Amino acid sequence: MNTCDVIYEGKAKKMYRTEDESIVLVEYLDQVTALNGARKDEMVGKAELNNTISSFIFTWLKKNGIENHFVSKEGKTEQLIKKLEMIPLEIVLRNVAAGSFSKRFAVAQGTVLTRPIIEFYYKADELDDPFINDAHVDYFSIATEGELKSIRQLTLMLNEKLIELFDQIDLTLVDFKIEVGRTSDGKILLADEISPDTCRLWDKTSKQSLDKDVYRKKTGDLLTVYREVTNRLDALKEEN
Ligand code: C5P
Repeated sequence: MNTCDVIYEGKAKKMYRTEDESIVLVEYLDQVTALNGARKDEMVGKAELNNTISSFIFTWLKKNGIENHFVSKEGKTEQLIKKLEMIPLEIVLRNVAAGSFSKRFAVAQGTVLTRPIIEFYYKADELDDPFINDAHVDYFSIATEGELKSIRQLTLMLNEKLIELFDQIDLTLVDFKIEVGRTSDGKILLADEISPDTCRLWDKTSKQSLDKDVYRKKTGDLLTVYREVTNRLDALKEEN
């Protein structure tokens, strides 16, 4: 890939222009970060695992009624996606208390929430992605009221579908983060990545984390647990 075609370089992904203006090539990188990039390590093989998992999930979602930006998996670490105008929000949905929710509100990790809680974070590295509400989204013209309503509906629908998927491979979907963008005709579309980098996934029996928390908390080997998620999804593919 020609470096002059790079249109974005993030912590775990690089994006390239393609001949088709409406399509972007994403390359996953062998990098893992925590604390908004303050901790960073190279992990050979992570890119392939993330690309495999995210491609599988986006394909499954498409088949199950959730439109998204995914076009095709290209090779081990790359995928083609639809170009969108990204909305600078990290949308988090929580089913079970963990992570920053447990810390911020002093709720014991593992407490099942009576209903899913959606949170918004303003995607701005220099501000450390602050926690924001609807009034901030409006004040900073991040999205319209109608768009925010669509984002909430999409996030709740996605949650139901992802719970259904992860249930089949004995994982509890504790929480997840998504990003969305606008299509050229102004529709909100699911984008970015869905993987153990962006979801908390707990084994239903052992309650062990099969996600990036093993790296954040230094409690296990990231590649081993991501491989476990990949293998479980593979088995599902063979069943269908
Ligand atoms: O850290 P926190 O509890 O707020 O994370 C909630 C969910 O969002 C977790 O699944 C985490 O993996 C994901 N997340 C993410 N990218 C961030 C922050 C959180 O994917 N920058």
